[in-house]
Amino acid sequence: MSTNDRLDFCRRLAADAGRLAHSTFGRAAVLPAKGRHDEVTAMDREVERVVRERIARAFPQDAVLGEEDGASADVGSAEFVWIIDPIDGTANYARGIAHYCVSIGVLHRGTPFVGALHDPSHERLYWAARGAGAWLDENGATRRLAVSPIATLDGATVECGWSLRVPQADYLALFARMLSAGCAVRRAGSGALGLADVAAGRTEGYAELHINSWDCAAGLLLVAEAGGRINDFFAGDGLLAGNPILATNATLADSLATLAGIPFR
Ligand code: IPD
Ligand code: CA
Repeated sequence: MSTNDRLDFCRRLAADAGRLAHSTFGRAAVLPAKGRHDEVTAMDREVERVVRERIARAFPQDAVLGEEDGASADVGSAEFVWIIDPIDGTANYARGIAHYCVSIGVLHRGTPFVGALHDPSHERLYWAARGAGAWLDENGATRRLAVSPIATLDGATVECGWSLRVPQADYLALFARMLSAGCAVRRAGSGALGLADVAAGRTEGYAELHINSWDCAAGLLLVAEAGGRINDFFAGDGLLAGNPILATNATLADSLATLAGIPFR
């Protein structure tokens, strides 16, 4: 199987899964929460079920890791690992806020290989393959993505992702350091779309003190292939336990790494 086989399949799968998710947008069946501010809907589960089934049929030798159903037994040994976030931005989705997506990334021997991310509310399909650029299909056209050229912190907009996995004081300190340095700060509720915004040059950075691999596997590749800088997210146990994340452009990389306390290595 070549890169193209998995890339084409991944793009089609993300597009179909995004359409499926969007079919109940605005009338989502919200299930009992997994934890405080950790919501889940019936559609999160359904999208992951469908995506896993299609991967298993097309690439039975590949491992799978998903937000809702966890890791397959071969996740540590398989050559390729598919990483699925069936709905990223579930809290938005559950509230009828049109800022969510389906994210599917593939690792080859532990390194991002291909990825696709579908934002069905805006009919945007983002995709990337290692060494082949980051791209956006929108309004019937495909365009190559490039990170923002903005080089000053007081001209930068940085999204700081938030979850209860990190102590509130640490998040507030991160937020305060970014604001004090002159950045505009936002938190829109989808790490995957936050990374797509960096790749598309709409924002200058995405930082979060802990994020899971399903939130960022596709988005990290988008930013890297759009000419940006990403930290070594998959170092250590990043795949299964998550890690801090930082994604930005080359000129802001050093100063944002210091501000966020997240090195690029
Ligand atoms: C969350 C979102 C959020 C990020 C969190 C994630 P979910 O995923 O991506 O923006 O800050 O770290 O857990 O719950 O919407 O799938
Ligand atoms: Ca997620």
